[in-house]
Amino acid sequence: MSAAVIPDGILEFDPYRSVANEELATRIDAVRAQLGSRLLILGHHYQQDAVIAHSDLRGDSYQLSQSAAGSDECRWIVFCGVHFMAETADILANRPEKIAARDGQRVDVILPDMAAGCSMADMAAIEQVEAAWEDLAEVVDVDQITPVTYVNSAASLKAFCGQRGGVVCTSSNARAALEWAFQQTPRVLFFPDQHLGRNTSLGMGIDADEMPVWNPHDDQLGGTTPEALQQSRVILWQGHCSVHQMFRAEHVRQFRERYPAIQILVHPECMQEVNDLADISGSTGKIIETVRGAAAGTEWAIGTELHLVNRLKSEHPEQEIHFLSPIVCMCATMHRIDLAHLCWSLENLLAGHPVNTISVEPETARWARVALERMLKIK
Ligand code: 13P
Ligand code: SF4
Repeated sequence: MSAAVIPDGILEFDPYRSVANEELATRIDAVRAQLGSRLLILGHHYQQDAVIAHSDLRGDSYQLSQSAAGSDECRWIVFCGVHFMAETADILANRPEKIAARDGQRVDVILPDMAAGCSMADMAAIEQVEAAWEDLAEVVDVDQITPVTYVNSAASLKAFCGQRGGVVCTSSNARAALEWAFQQTPRVLFFPDQHLGRNTSLGMGIDADEMPVWNPHDDQLGGTTPEALQQSRVILWQGHCSVHQMFRAEHVRQFRERYPAIQILVHPECMQEVNDLADISGSTGKIIETVRGAAAGTEWAIGTELHLVNRLKSEHPEQEIHFLSPIVCMCATMHRIDLAHLCWSLENLLAGHPVNTISVEPETARWARVALERMLKIK
């Protein structure tokens, strides 16, 4: 197939829709062979297998941030993940010292489909967080609050944290980030995922009564009260992951009844009732490590995105792995990245026309980097 070219030299996407996956895979391999180590393809664990097969590195959000931060050789990063991950890669791969070491050369970060967003990240807009901060200042001393943003957030929120002594966290270091935050101030504002914030804080011994939930759509102090805020230790933003929200406590109970030896393994984006009933809770990286390290014959019910659970099932036939929910819980936005978009973005790159580049505005990137670097230093 010869791809149609639109006037500025960019290959049009439409013709790629009808190309068979086998041909797309061959063409992707051909571009990778030509670009060699100048190209780094990163794949998040939730990606479909066909895409993961072409990634140089796969990982959880933290591991992928580290890979982007350490990228010395590469000229382009193609991020098979979602928008906030590509933004983070742009910020970390293009730190001033990295650009200087590459003689002024920036790394272009490409997201194969711009529609690959994250509905949780969209639940906290910078205007809402700024408005909440102003409202909070009327009842508590905001100099005594450390803002902590989950990495699943726009770069502007990371910058907000960078400017106010705050930090970014991922699901693999949320506890360490909160411990660090409490060394700075007695109170934390945690956004956008209330569940990760609550599950982690409860695990640290913080009382549920000390965690009011801030509803950004309620202009009366986010639906809280001055007293609740004054007594708070962690103010939780009312955001959630629509995928992990679908795992329920009754699913855990049903599995325990049917399979007495079952081990329940969940992502901390699941709600508290599920997290409390689980045997183990952790990032996608921890979920994988746990299954890998278990004895043959272990029975698992896993509460995280479907593609990862299905991959674990096929990679570990020696274990008995179940999906925790009877309903399909998949990240539809992650799934936007398919072979057609990957091939289209790579062939445009090879033709000298990078498409879908993610470039965070410099001032936002500067402050977001401060919060990200604080995170990378926390052990
Ligand atoms: P991890 O940080 O565990 O990879 O999770 C990312 C994510 O988006 C989970 O929904
Ligand atoms: Fe966002 Fe949830 Fe998808 Fe993770 S699984 S990228 S939190 S929508």
